Amino acid sequence: MMNFFLGVDLGTSSLKIILGDEKGRLLGSSSSSFSITSTQIGYSEQNPKDWLSAFELALTEIIQQFPEIKKSPLTIGLSGQMHTLVLLDSYGEVLRPAILWNDGRTTEEVKELKQLVGDHLLEIEKNIPLEGFTLPKIRWIQKNEPDLWEQTWKFMLPKDYLVYSLTGNAYTELSDGAGTIMVDIQNHCWDEALLNKLSIPLDKCPEIKASTAIIGEMKDELKEEYGLTGTVSFVLGGADNACGAFATISDRQTQGLISVGTSGVVLAYTDAEEPKNLGKYHYFNSVIENVHYKMGVTLSAGYSLDWFKKILSPTESFENFTKTAEESMIGSHGISFLPYLFGERSPYFDTNMTGSLIGLRAHHKKEDIVRAIMEGIAFSLKNVYENMGYGQTSRIKTFRMTGGVTKNPFWSQMFADIFQAKIEILAFDEGPAYGALLCAVSGMQDEEIIESWIDTNYVKYTYIPTKEGKKYEIPYQRFIQFSRQQLTNH
Ligand code: XUL
Repeated sequence: MMNFFLGVDLGTSSLKIILGDEKGRLLGSSSSSFSITSTQIGYSEQNPKDWLSAFELALTEIIQQFPEIKKSPLTIGLSGQMHTLVLLDSYGEVLRPAILWNDGRTTEEVKELKQLVGDHLLEIEKNIPLEGFTLPKIRWIQKNEPDLWEQTWKFMLPKDYLVYSLTGNAYTELSDGAGTIMVDIQNHCWDEALLNKLSIPLDKCPEIKASTAIIGEMKDELKEEYGLTGTVSFVLGGADNACGAFATISDRQTQGLISVGTSGVVLAYTDAEEPKNLGKYHYFNSVIENVHYKMGVTLSAGYSLDWFKKILSPTESFENFTKTAEESMIGSHGISFLPYLFGERSPYFDTNMTGSLIGLRAHHKKEDIVRAIMEGIAFSLKNVYENMGYGQTSRIKTFRMTGGVTKNPFWSQMFADIFQAKIEILAFDEGPAYGALLCAVSGMQDEEIIESWIDTNYVKYTYIPTKEGKKYEIPYQRFIQFSRQQLTNH
């Protein structure tokens, strides 16, 4: 009987499932969306039950499209939004809305952690504390909702909560564990010295398993509900960015990853270099054993463009909206956009920064504004990259790109020009969901099946930097200057 694999990506605005078979073929996909609630400035929360409902909807759709999977052995791998804090009580019930990675309420906790354990975090967790990471969120709960902390049986990361709900097993793995900044990055375990110091009982932390090991089966009652009669096994998979890298980078020495989803990410594996200047970027475990990566994040990347479109042109198609940008020119006739709608993570680590459109004049047209937004997002990611310690002679020669941006050739070319690097887009540009599926494939430990998934993906589009593209340097420098001004203004 044919084995099937599902890659499930639990993102920030939707959950996506992709289906593959044992011959290395991608068969189909489905998705279901959910929203973010913000009850106060800087707050960003979701109801974990909404993720579960989205999973059910997307799975039901896949089963309807491919009824043959009902009887067959299925292996499911996951990828998920990182850092987001879910709290469960001893009945496995969710205690409060999940606090998301882009929630900025924990500035006080970050300051306090820097004083208390700043050096320790840099030495063992290899990162500085930031509002987005899980540890400051836990500190916020300890301080502001002590009763809930008392009632907490386990804290969980989003994809692990989904696995827990579907299997009854409460685990995590290193790529998501690293994003809590409570894991000893080199020794692959919870950092007990840190936990003790911060009064976080070890048994509130989910046990760490390998990203690609089978960790359990779907609960019988759920299988019955979905009409599944074959074995349904789970591997944990990894953090969305770790899975995105696993899915796209085939040469860890010369390729990097740019992903433009809600957030924007620039990532490079570090096995070719001694990571210097830790703390200037994130440094986490990948889903590949003993391999780490560097990463920087623009919090509001694709989100900025979506947000503007909703405000400026709610009824227009996304395609037409972005197409207008092509009528403007490099530098958007002098308009700069700073995408700091949620404050900014990399490279400024400052939640007080705000989004801005600078340089508006009466003669500007809509196309200039739309282009400025697209440029601002790409400039912000270039700034992230340069602050990861890569200059003109960088060993990264090519970026593989994932996310909504890949659907837009004009914007993809803009990235090639702004980064002055080759941009490649793969045929299966599902990014994290594809990486999650590959984790599931690895979990089967069947050499023939693993073989059939090697080299199935191929480069579909390549964007080469143009000479004309060098003209982006001037508006890029303007972007940097305005960003720095904001920093010194508060
Ligand atoms: C990474 C980060 C985001 C989320 C988005 O540090 O916070 O990229 O992983 O899902």
